[in-house]
Amino acid sequence: DGEVFKYYTEGEWKKSASGKSVAIINPTTRTTQYKVQACTQEEVNKVMESAKVAQKQWAKTPLWKRAELLHKAAAILKEHKAPIAECLVKEIAKPAKDSVTEVVRSGDLISYCAEEGVRILGEGKFLVSDSFPGNERTKYCLTSKIPLGVVLAIPPFNYPVNLAVSKIGPALIAGNSLVLKPPTQGAVACLHMVQCFHLAGFPKGLINCVTGKGSEIGDFLTMHPGVNCISFTGGDTGVAISKKAGMVPLQMELGGKDACIVLEDADLDLVAANIIKGGFSYSGQRCTAVKVVLVMESVADALVEKVNAKVAKLKVGPPEDNCDITPVVSESSANFIEGLAKDAKTKGATFCQEYKREGNLIWPLLLDNVRPDMRIAWEEPFGPIVPVIRINSIEEGIHHCNASNFGLQGCVFTSDINKAILISDAMETGTVQINSAPARGPDHFPFQGLKDSGIGSQGITNSINMMTKIKSTVINLP
Ligand code: G3H
Repeated sequence: DGEVFKYYTEGEWKKSASGKSVAIINPTTRTTQYKVQACTQEEVNKVMESAKVAQKQWAKTPLWKRAELLHKAAAILKEHKAPIAECLVKEIAKPAKDSVTEVVRSGDLISYCAEEGVRILGEGKFLVSDSFPGNERTKYCLTSKIPLGVVLAIPPFNYPVNLAVSKIGPALIAGNSLVLKPPTQGAVACLHMVQCFHLAGFPKGLINCVTGKGSEIGDFLTMHPGVNCISFTGGDTGVAISKKAGMVPLQMELGGKDACIVLEDADLDLVAANIIKGGFSYSGQRCTAVKVVLVMESVADALVEKVNAKVAKLKVGPPEDNCDITPVVSESSANFIEGLAKDAKTKGATFCQEYKREGNLIWPLLLDNVRPDMRIAWEEPFGPIVPVIRINSIEEGIHHCNASNFGLQGCVFTSDINKAILISDAMETGTVQINSAPARGPDHFPFQGLKDSGIGSQGITNSINMMTKIKSTVINLP
C-alpha cells in the first residue's frame, strides 16, 4: 500500500529526507512485501551524534535501573511475539513456529543479559603492588568495567531479531548506546523489535535503528568516527569491515563449514537425526549448520540410508504452513546453491534425491561420495544441501575439517568419550559438540569462530565483557 516503515532515532520514528525506500522481497512470493527508509549519510551523522550524547547519561544510570528497563523490554517483546514472528515469516521465510521461537529466545536473552550484567558489572578487582618485584605495599589498584561508547550492531538476515538483541542486550546493560543497522531482509522485524525497547521507555537517542542501502550507508557506518565498537554477524562483508574499521574493538561472527565426523561406533540413528536437524533446519541457512559430513566408509551406506529416509519425510513448502524446508532468502542465494549442486553433478557426486527447484524453493538434497575437488566440499551453500565425504581414518576427517578456511563449530559422533575428546582437541574450530549437531545456544555459552569464522567470542557473558573496558584507579599511599 506504499507505506514505508520509518527509521528510529532520538526516541522517534522518522522519514528519511532522501524520499527513497528499500524494498524487501518476500522470498516465497518473490514480490515486494515491505519497504523501509533509505537513510542518508547526513542522517547517519545525526544518529551518531544523538547516540553519543545519550550514552553519556546512560553510563551514569544505575546498573539496577538499566537492568530493570531491559527486563521490561524483554517482557514487551515476548508479548508482541506474534506480529514480530509474522514479519520473519514474510521477510525471511522462516517457518512460523521457528519465528515465534526466535522472538521468545530473544526475550529470554535480554533478561539474561540484565541478570548477568548486574552480577559481572557489579564486581571489580582490588590489587596490591607488593606482588610485583621491587614494590612495597604502597599502591592499591581498584578496577571496574566501563562502557565503550556507541556500539554499531549489524545482525544478519537469518536471525534478524535474535542476533540483534544478542548485541543490543550486552551493549545496553554495560552502559553503551546503540546504532542498529538491520539486514534488508528482516529489517521490518528489527524495527518492530526496536519498538518494544521504545515502549519499555529507554531514554531518547540511546537506541537508534537506521535502514538503507549498504552501498549508501554501509561503509559510512562502519568507518564512522563516532563508532566505538562494531558487533557484526554475517558473511564475507565482515572481512571487508574488519579491514576498513578504525581502531575499535570488533566482534565478528562470519561463515562456517561445520563438519560432522562420524566414527564406526556412533549411534547412527542419533547421527541421522542430527544431520537432519543440523543440516536442514531453516533450510540450512545457519552459520552453525552441518555443512559437511565426514563418515567412516564402513558405516557410510547405513548412515546415508537412514538420512535419506528422514529427508523423504521433510515437508517442503511455504513458511506459513510450518514446512521444514522453505524458500531460501533470495534468488541470488538460490542461484548460488544451484551452482554448487551443478558443480558436484559434473564432478560425479551421487545425488541421493533428484535436484528440484521452484523459484527460491530448493528441495532438500543429500550428496554422497563428494570429493575434495568439488566446490561443495569447501564452500558453504547456506541452503538445504548436505555433502557426505567418505573417510577411511579419523585423521582424514580431522584433516578435511582443518583444511577449511572456516573454523566455527564442528561435531563428532562416537560412543568413545576418550576418542571424542582427542578429536575435539584436534579440530581447529571455536566449539566442538560431542554427539549433537553444532548450535550457538544456549545463549550464555561462549560462541566463537577461529580463522575466517570470526573475531572475538560471543555468548552473553563474553559480549558484555567485550563491550566494556577496564578502568583502574590507583591509590598511592604515602
Ligand atoms: O547463523 C548463525 C547463528 O549464530 C546460528 O545460531 O546455532 O542458534 O542456529 P543457531
